[in-house]
Order: sequence, then structure tokens, then C-alpha cells
Amino acid sequence: MDPPEEVRARLERCGQGHLLRFWAELGPEQRRALLAALPPGLGEHCRLAAAAGARQRGPPERLDGRMEPLPAELLGSARRSGPAALQRWEAEGLYQISQNKVAVLLLAGGQGTRLGVSYPKGMYNVGLPSGKNLYQIQAERIRKVEQLAGQRHRCKCAIPWYIMTSEFTLGPTEEFFVQHNYFNLDRSNVIMFEQRMLPAVTFDGKAILEEKGKIAMAPDGNGGLYRALVDNKILDDMKQRGIQYVHVYCVDNILVKMADPVFIGFCVSKGADCGAKVVEKAYPTEPVGVVCCVDGVYQVVEYSEVSPETAQQQRPEGGLMFSAGNICNHFFTVDFLEIVAQKCEPQLKHHVAIKKVPYIDKEGNLVKPLKPNGIKLEKFVFDVFQFSKNFVAFEVLREEEFSPLKNADTADKDTPTTARQALLAQHYRWALKAGARFVDENGCRIPEKLSLSGTEDPPAVCEISPLVSYFGEGLEVYMKNKDFPSPFVLDETKVEMLENS
Ligand code: UD1
Repeated sequence: MDPPEEVRARLERCGQGHLLRFWAELGPEQRRALLAALPPGLGEHCRLAAAAGARQRGPPERLDGRMEPLPAELLGSARRSGPAALQRWEAEGLYQISQNKVAVLLLAGGQGTRLGVSYPKGMYNVGLPSGKNLYQIQAERIRKVEQLAGQRHRCKCAIPWYIMTSEFTLGPTEEFFVQHNYFNLDRSNVIMFEQRMLPAVTFDGKAILEEKGKIAMAPDGNGGLYRALVDNKILDDMKQRGIQYVHVYCVDNILVKMADPVFIGFCVSKGADCGAKVVEKAYPTEPVGVVCCVDGVYQVVEYSEVSPETAQQQRPEGGLMFSAGNICNHFFTVDFLEIVAQKCEPQLKHHVAIKKVPYIDKEGNLVKPLKPNGIKLEKFVFDVFQFSKNFVAFEVLREEEFSPLKNADTADKDTPTTARQALLAQHYRWALKAGARFVDENGCRIPEKLSLSGTEDPPAVCEISPLVSYFGEGLEVYMKNKDFPSPFVLDETKVEMLENS
């Protein structure tokens, strides 16, 4: 049988014959591409997606009665721990980094649709005085923390940066890194790899054609990480390099502390195989997942899975009962990742996203639907907590560590403006703590404001390059009792000038 005929028969059998509707109009290259893009198990995927979509459109599944907060003994806290414990964890983290045992892994396969840009989110410039984009900030934090660990242990060390991309983001991300000379990182320590894609499916279980010869595909969620680690032999690469601990994080948090020594040190000293950084939820209905226990296993429960009453429940001593907001910052041992990727991955559940997916109608016209018409299935990175033998969570201060860039500036939160304000507020606090003073264009002192909401502009604009300071350390020597104009950017060149002044 002619290969297309055999394919046609197979597609008809699984209810996907419509994918060849425009076959006669396709050129040889388009035909080849369409055949190559037909994923194995397409019929099964479409059935699964339609069933999951129907459940999703029904009443939401509430987990209320089955949820319990995290037990206090496995929840560490940056706020509630004394300086000695924090220093001990930091020292442990820096030691592990100095031994080349720590890697960072960026989840960057998402499409960033809410932000409304056509390029990967990491390339976004939120309008800082330095003009730095998110990737540059992250790269510089890696370089600085490598330097801090190396200085402390008198050695040269490296933190490999693994970057999970998707079909949408790999090309532009690679190009961007080449254009920027890998932000002066050693190229061999930046490892990009691609996650898989899955077809988008209609409510009645048909794969969607976005062009006459092209199925609409979407990345398989940030939990696609575990399959991608195997597909791309990333775990082998980690083991060859001697990596034992991995800090996994999402691309959009401008305050992310890459390979945070305190978090790494906390998890290592607790003997954890899996850990999550959390922030206290700002208000009961804040749209972040909460880390908690469901039927005795640790998991992140998305806000849609909790009733408003449960979300508002208070602890007897005050504060929200379910307050551990997930910020998509995870710690894993390589051994744990290996177990998950080799054995447990098939058990991860599919989450459903119902989206507007442009499609080609029967007459061959491109239709941009006004209402959601398509189902996308995704796995989530945190759904592996259930497999942990020793899970821990670590609560950090929101104003120091969490300001995500999710939306365009037309929204009122998690926008380029709020991200920029959060970073500049943090650097302003660091500068004041280091003894800096700010003056206006007339040389008059700008009055200080110590408590900033994080979503307001600080009275003086001071941006500190991550190459100068990772978490506010080491600034007194340049800033104490000195006057600075606003705006001011403390970068390596300014540091040299201040050292020589
Ligand atoms: C995520 C968390 C949520 C948390 C919030 C905090 C997940 C599933 N949800 O939500 O619990 O409260 O961050 O900011 O982790 N990505 C991929 N491949 C994909 C899809 C996404 O790599 O197929 C990456 C994105 O590029 C991003 C990260 O995963 O870096 C988070 O994805 P996103 O869809 O933005 O999750 P949120 O809804 O923001």
C-alpha cells in the first residue's frame, strides 16, 4: 500500500482522518513534514485529551477536605531562622558549589502568551537603567555565585546552566545567547535542550490543523522536564560532570537567586531529595499554587482546586492555614531526578488547559476562534513531590525573592513595571544598608524611605549589577557614607572607579 494510504487507514481508524483532508494541495515538503509530525499514539492522546477536557469543563474538583498544611518540621524559613543557621546553610551551599556539585536548570519552554511577546520571556527587558534582560541578570548571578564559592574555598568552580526550551523557544534562545556571547559564561557550561510537544485537540477529540499541512502543537508542560532529561541524555551529562544537586527555576522571576547557597545548603543539610522554595501567600485568593499535603503526600494545589472558604482559613496563631505559595523554585538531587525520569514519570497526571487555538476549517480557511476551542495537556514540574522520600520546603521573603513577570503592563500585577520596581526597591534597600546616601540634581539629600511596598518606585533609583553583589553582600566598601546621584548603576566599571577614588 502507498505509505499515505497506510497512514490514511491508520488515521481513519483512530478518528483522525481529517488530518489528511488537504493532502492533495500539499507540496512534497509539506507532505513529508506532516507525516513526520504525526506523533505515535495520536489516537490515544486525542481520546485522553477529550476526556480530560470534558472533566475540566465540569464542576471543578475541590481538594478541600483532603488538604493539610505542611508539617512545621519540614518547613524551614529565612524569616524565622537566626543568623547562625542562615550562615551555616549558606556555607554548606557555597561548599557544594565550590565542589562543582550544583547545577541550575531553567524551565524556559513556555510561550509567555500572557505577556504578549513573540519571543522567549527570558529575552525581555523590563526597563532597568542598565537595559539588562532577564537572561543577562540570571547569567550574571551564576557568575557571581561561582565567584563567591570559589573565593571562599580558594578554587575555580562552575555551575552548569541547563536550559529547557521548546520548539518555540530553542532557536531564538540559542541565537540570543550567541549574539550576547553567552553573557561571558563558558559556553560549554550552558546546555540547551528541547522538551516534547503535544497536539492540541478539539472538545470532540480531533487533533487541530493550524495549517493545511501542520498540526497545532504545544509544549508538554514544565513537567515535560522529566521526559526531556532522558530524551536528551541530560542526566548522563550531569553525572559525567559530578553534579549532585539541581536548582530548577522558572524564567520569569526577576529576583530569582540562582543556585541560592542558603536554599541548597538547607536542603542538603536536611538530607532532602526534593525541596520547594515558597513565599507566604499575599492574600487568600492570590493565584499561586500552595505547597501542602493531600491524602498524606506532598503536592502543589492550584488555587482553582481550593474553595474560597479553605483559601481563607486561618491558623489558630494567626496567618493563613494554607500559606506556602509555590514560586516554582525547586531543589532535586540527581538521584531523585533519575528515579523520577526512569520510573515514575508515566504516573504524573495530565493537567488541562483550555485555549483558543487558531484552526483551518473544512473549506481551508484559517479561523481565529473567539471562544476557547482546544485542549492542551500538560504535566507539571512539581507533581513529582509525591515520590520524594525526604521532602522539605523553605520559606523566603517575597520582597527579596519573588516578583514574577507574567502580564503586560495593562494588568495591575506581575508586569514589567512591578518586576522593575521590585528589583530597584531591593537594590535601594541594599544600598541604604551599606550606608549609601542619595542626592538629587541640586545636590540635596533625597529623604530615605525604608519600608517600600515592592510595587512602588523607590525614592532614588540605584541598580546594582549582579556581578558586584549577589544578595547585597560586599557593598559597604563602595557605598558607605558616600553620596550617589539618582539614577545610579553600580557595575564593574563604577566599582573600579570607586576603588581608585
Ligand atoms: C507557575 C507554577 C505555579 C506558581 C507560579 C509562580 C507550575 C506548573 N505552576 O505558574 O504553581 O505559583 O509559577 O510564578 O509550575 N514552562 C516550560 N514548558 C512548558 C510550560 C511552561 O518550560 O511547557 C516554563 C515556563 O517557561 C516558565 C515556567 O515553566 O518558566 C512556569 O510556567 P508558567 O506556565 O508560566 O506557570 P505559571 O502559571 O506562571
